Amino acid sequence: MTRKSERISASALKPVEQLAIDEVPGELERLAKEIAHHDELYHRKDAPEISDADYDALRRRNDALEQRYPELVREDSPNKRVGAAPAEAFGKVVHKVPMLSLSNGFEDSDVTEFWNRIRRFLNLKEGEELAVTAEPKIDGLSASLRYEKGKFIVGATRGDGREGENVTENLKTIDDVPAVLKGKHLPDVFEMRGEVYMSHKDFEALNARQVKDGKPPFANPRNAAAGSLRQLDPKITASRPLRFFAYAWGEASEVPSDTHSGMIETFRHWGFTVNPFFRVCTSAEELLAFYHEIEETRANLGYDIDGVVYKVNRLDWQQRLGFVSRSPRWALAHKFPAEQAMTVLEGIDIQVGRTGALTPVARLKPVTVGGVVVSNATLHNEDEIERLGVRIGDTVVVQRAGDVIPQIVQVIEDKRPKNARRFKFPDICPACGSHAVRETNEKTGKVDAVRRCTGGLICPAQAVERLRHFVSRNAFDIEGLGEKQIAAFYDDGLILQPGDIFTLEERDKRSLKKLKDREGWGETSARNLFAAIDARREIDLDRFIFGLGIRHVGETNARLLARSYGTLDHFVEEMEKAAKEDSEARRELLAIDGVGDVLAEALVDFFSEKHNREVLATLKKAGVKAIPLPAQETSSPIAGKTVVFTGSLERMTRSEAKARAEQMGAKVAGSVSAKTDLVVAGPGAGSKLAKAAELGVAVITEDEWMEMAAG
Ligand code: IVH
Repeated sequence: MTRKSERISASALKPVEQLAIDEVPGELERLAKEIAHHDELYHRKDAPEISDADYDALRRRNDALEQRYPELVREDSPNKRVGAAPAEAFGKVVHKVPMLSLSNGFEDSDVTEFWNRIRRFLNLKEGEELAVTAEPKIDGLSASLRYEKGKFIVGATRGDGREGENVTENLKTIDDVPAVLKGKHLPDVFEMRGEVYMSHKDFEALNARQVKDGKPPFANPRNAAAGSLRQLDPKITASRPLRFFAYAWGEASEVPSDTHSGMIETFRHWGFTVNPFFRVCTSAEELLAFYHEIEETRANLGYDIDGVVYKVNRLDWQQRLGFVSRSPRWALAHKFPAEQAMTVLEGIDIQVGRTGALTPVARLKPVTVGGVVVSNATLHNEDEIERLGVRIGDTVVVQRAGDVIPQIVQVIEDKRPKNARRFKFPDICPACGSHAVRETNEKTGKVDAVRRCTGGLICPAQAVERLRHFVSRNAFDIEGLGEKQIAAFYDDGLILQPGDIFTLEERDKRSLKKLKDREGWGETSARNLFAAIDARREIDLDRFIFGLGIRHVGETNARLLARSYGTLDHFVEEMEKAAKEDSEARRELLAIDGVGDVLAEALVDFFSEKHNREVLATLKKAGVKAIPLPAQETSSPIAGKTVVFTGSLERMTRSEAKARAEQMGAKVAGSVSAKTDLVVAGPGAGSKLAKAAELGVAVITEDEWMEMAAG
């Protein structure tokens, strides 16, 4: 079996409902590629490789996943293409005023704190009134509708907040979205923002229709709304009753009121639907009273809400309060508590993430939690299994809150069956068979909760990530071999581990399917890639070591190791010897200034993994040579000294300067302390320069540094 099929089999064999949420993107990617491949064979080459029935099964699986997770639909989804030619997908719309999120609160105390924080920030005196509005938080998807002189021009999804998809035609099918605004004095430009959602009744009718048509039902109204709004065919959107509540705005040439409540009133006059539950409150207690009233009426609203949103009513105060990172300081989303349900834990699977973390996933007897069928939940890590005391066969309480992955929060021990089994957490990676270890945190002395696979370079779960690191700018820096190319080569089995990069050209010569004939490649780009690879057959030892992606070995440590061990062979030899705890090699490793237990452990783990040593052997066999770093100067004025660079350097890059200083025997530090001997300050140097002055550390300019560096 090839590694490629090993990688896909785990998720490919599972029924759609049993895929963990974090498995879905990978599975959609695999399906998109596979379907595109078969489309190409069928339409362009007239040479299908699989039966129509098998092809249909792939399409059905893809459709089922897309229906279930509309927010994960890919740009290259098979449903956005017709035959082999890509259909015009949605255009992009840049949000001039970004669409931000809200900070969340859960407890009553979060609301009082929010209230007090605002009063403090605005420096309100006793007796000075603060008014904050309260309104339901609709559980749909937000959209931005641009009106010019009262006419609906363009509408977009939130996207990443900065740029969304142009879904104008679909938004036009929504009754709550007026084509023309009512009223006389309409702003030249006004971007209305609000929530697109589906009512419970419409959701149920849609799902009944889906089932009747042999299509998979949607998991919840939110997903149904998202899936419907993102339909390429507006006719389909029109057949799915969506609704819209207006509650905010983006770019506006004119703001017709000076309060949020006034704005909402204006929206209503313009012809928008605004939520009927809305209150202006003048104390935190009133906000909480509103919240609890809404919580009680929630079940009868006929649509999903997931909390209450509070907003400072005065717009000039909103302005003053401004934003913290991605959310306004003047608003708070007070969320309803998570929903829970009881079910049986049928098994525990181990998933290996992109960084090698082994995560236990609970396989549950499917249960509906807050309207969504849940069959997987995360158990986080092995300590969590221990903490919960959970055994396979136990009855457990699962909880889901909003979009987060469901989790197990409690075990009902009274219901434990006699044959309940304890789970033994593996110390071997299920994806590649390498050792999986838990590290000790140097600072806290605590054992890390996460167990990680040490076979990074060969582990299929991590391979693409590791290869991407291997070719990245500060490692092998191979031009033309970016993330996209690495992923494609990996999927096609052309580059499975670093050594394969250096045999690519050789294999290409013998291959029937040449690189230059691949999609996105041509004669020149293929030639350039081979040349770029060739140029890195000889590489500085520190880059080589960094490229291996050993845990805790960043650029600085890589350089330290390269300097300390001189050659690659010597380094590898010593690391293998250092596996023995009481060896001379281990003592020498730990004696290096800057190497502590954690780094030593990570190095030893890496080199005691047979798979990793094989990777090094294949690199060597492919003719890759690591060049020792030039000897350090001991006669330079900064040999043995600690140097800090600050401000912007104009004549060399920061990394160049750093490398040169190290070559001159100096240690380069990131911050100024009593141990600093010299600060090189470029323009714009700030606090570090001040600190240097305070500590009496010598400071030189970039020009003086250049002179020193020139020797
Ligand atoms: S105000 C600057 N009001 O909640 C933020 N958002 O968690 C403007 N949402 O992306 C948003 N109901 O999709 C606001 N009444 C409401 C809302 C609401 C639902 C959503 C919206 C936003 C998300 C933030």
